[in-house]
Amino acid sequence: MTGTHTDRAARIIARCREIAACTEIPGEITRLFLSPPMREVHTLLRGWMEAAGMTVHVDAIGNLRGLWPGSTPGSPRLLIGSHLDTVPNAGAFDGILGVVLGVAIIEELRDQYLPFAIEVVGFSEEEGVRFSKPFLGSLALVGRLDEDTLARTDRSGISVQQAIEAYGLDPVQLPAAALANETFAYLELHIEQGPVLENEDTSLGVVEALVGQTRMELVFTGQANHAGTTPMHLRHDAMAAAAEWIVAVEDYASTHSGLVATVGKVEAAPGAGNVIAGKVTASLDVRHADDSAREASVIAILKLAETAATRRGVHVTSSNQLEQPAVPLDSHLVTLLDKAATKAGFPARRMTSGAGHDAMILAPVVPSAMLFLRSPGGLSHHPDEDVLPQDVEAALATAMEFLAQLRDDRTNPKDGHA
Ligand code: HGY
Ligand code: MN
Ligand code: MN
Repeated sequence: MTGTHTDRAARIIARCREIAACTEIPGEITRLFLSPPMREVHTLLRGWMEAAGMTVHVDAIGNLRGLWPGSTPGSPRLLIGSHLDTVPNAGAFDGILGVVLGVAIIEELRDQYLPFAIEVVGFSEEEGVRFSKPFLGSLALVGRLDEDTLARTDRSGISVQQAIEAYGLDPVQLPAAALANETFAYLELHIEQGPVLENEDTSLGVVEALVGQTRMELVFTGQANHAGTTPMHLRHDAMAAAAEWIVAVEDYASTHSGLVATVGKVEAAPGAGNVIAGKVTASLDVRHADDSAREASVIAILKLAETAATRRGVHVTSSNQLEQPAVPLDSHLVTLLDKAATKAGFPARRMTSGAGHDAMILAPVVPSAMLFLRSPGGLSHHPDEDVLPQDVEAALATAMEFLAQLRDDRTNPKDGHA
């Protein structure tokens, strides 16, 4: 990629917006796991990757993987990536920006070979929307895509395995999607998706840890009945039980420091205005930097559901979709990334991520680091999600400096780090 720094930032943003047009629903950005628009995304990214001199393939879980070789065969490998799927009616930068920046880093190398190869990966699924299970793409890299996961079905009864086959991929090849053995580090560049950097008027954040998260589904089962003929004291109203609980969740989280709890999806059956809801299915998302605080909160929140249900003769059950402990990132890489940001002229803020990222899945297996870019308005998972050109420039300059830090670190290792 040539041109001035402003040009390159503008080109990166334009590419993210070009990818945003690859959507299941015209007029909004919605691209779930292995949905048809993912092919268009792969075509665009493959074109940019191959033009930059990378070799590209799609692995058996649908991750797009581009490789820039090191200066010698069998060089160690740095992995740079993020995800290509979105939440419904998403913004243009969540996930995508990290992959487009990865390609831009290779373009910046301009045929320069480092003592390590660089693999840029676009994960096929991180959000967990289609199968209510996040991180499918990165789980395949660390060998944690188990039979139960492959058997999970979406709303139309299609399993993960069937979705893979329908996309033209071969589940038998899933083991080949594993991380290359020579991978020594993972870097993810991502928008912050929150208000911290904007409030401090700072371009970049260096992530030290990611909070843990619990995702569950609760089902309130009461008694459907006629809305006009059923007296209030004779009802078993699943909607009223769920509604009382949802407000109780908000009250509980608002009074417990460092805790966030969200009910983002509610479905009522039979779903007619003149019928008392017999069944309500609700999501629950609980996050906290401290795992024991999160676990205790989940127990308390489930008790609140019992209270709201029992009062109405409604029954409530819960099932777990994700139990993800908090993850610290690699302190040595964090230090190098922090130094790189400062050296590039963009001193970064150390911070914890409230959002989940593929780095949570990679970090227990390979030293991992994350660089955040400011989110204007602190907005994300929303069509108005944005990023500033000067922050894209800051991130790219920092990433190039980080490569130099890694190169020096690996050629003259200090305090035992190679
Ligand atoms: O939900 C999250 O934390 C992320 O955006 N996948
Ligand atoms: Mn997201
Ligand atoms: Mn994301």
